[in-house]
Amino acid sequence: MRSLSLFCFSSCLLFTQTSSLVSASSNVIQTPVEGCQWFSQLSTTAGPRIINGTRAKTGDWPWMVALIYADETAVKGQYCGGTLIHPSWVLTAGHCTEKSIGQDLAPEDIIVLMGTQNLALEATDGDRIEVTDIIRHPDYDGHDPNRPPFADIALLKLKHPASQTSILPVAASYSQLTNVGVCATVMGWGSISKTGNLYPDDLRQTEVPITSNAVCNGPYSYPNEIDEKMLCAGYRQGGKDACVGDSGGPLVVTTSTGWKQVGIVSYGEGCALPNYYGVYTRVSTFQHFINEHICGTTETPASPTLKIQVKGLTATASWEAVEGAQGYQFYYALPFTCLLDEKEPCIYSFDLATDTSLTATLKRGDSYYVAVQAYQGNCYSGYSNIEEVVIP
Ligand code: ARG
Repeated sequence: MRSLSLFCFSSCLLFTQTSSLVSASSNVIQTPVEGCQWFSQLSTTAGPRIINGTRAKTGDWPWMVALIYADETAVKGQYCGGTLIHPSWVLTAGHCTEKSIGQDLAPEDIIVLMGTQNLALEATDGDRIEVTDIIRHPDYDGHDPNRPPFADIALLKLKHPASQTSILPVAASYSQLTNVGVCATVMGWGSISKTGNLYPDDLRQTEVPITSNAVCNGPYSYPNEIDEKMLCAGYRQGGKDACVGDSGGPLVVTTSTGWKQVGIVSYGEGCALPNYYGVYTRVSTFQHFINEHICGTTETPASPTLKIQVKGLTATASWEAVEGAQGYQFYYALPFTCLLDEKEPCIYSFDLATDTSLTATLKRGDSYYVAVQAYQGNCYSGYSNIEEVVIP
């Protein structure tokens, strides 16, 4: 087992490491982590901020939306966040479609506000759009207020497409954008006080490192409450976090192809408390749910046809460009890991942007299954044919 995981360690990352051969792979850009290594200065900069965040600049997050109770102004009625993931669809948390536990909101109860970073400027800068349909995940279960809700994800259909065209790409299945330690950004109009009762008009953001589910499931955090469809982020010592009112908003990471959403603000014990990391819906595990509901047939590219060529230690995967595709997501699996240990991740994916081939230098005895998907926005084709790459 040990030698196998070593084998995995050296070659798991091989495709992505050698993809410098390719012009654009979307590994996370590890930004100089000053954002995520804030605590050394904590004593001098502590003060109320999202919790210890900063004010967002106008236009920085064009796909960020506020959910407002329809009969209120934005300043009074903002209760959740969301993201524009398609001109006509907003992604939010499942619990943002409930008034209180077990009591559903109707589409006409919710207004989506976009285009303004300051809620008080909704009349001049903002665009209020009505909601015509709510699709909450069928497995959503938030009925125990003392633990993180399952499948905390919902889609809101807009009455008309948004006038602004910048949509936020959601991390695809098996993407490696949520590796432990990656510095992520969370934003919202939620409380800036840990006691959850001080609300800013300005959108605020803060940076938090992604934590492993194992740590988040630990005895001092959320023992055995975090499943593989959830993700945690924050500092063991607390200090920076989302809070009440930030729910439904995004956790994003920056990649070589731009910002991608990896989480939806879902739950936390208090806000920014030591050991109580922020709990997020792991959106990459809901790619199919999102795709299935928001994508019309004309927006879904055809599946690419994959060809493999092996010459010595060099393997090349290539496919013909697909009509309407804005890019391609590459998938590979390690058959041995998959067979021997169900808990070890054994499928990986990354964004190739518009490239239509990938070349990697492998080792003798390496064996992978590979496939690609074409995408247009957040609409993905089916998988290509799945091919086996074997280096004899
Ligand atoms: N559930 C809360 C809401 O409705 C916010 C959850 C996030 N809390 C946290 N400590 N990260 O807005």
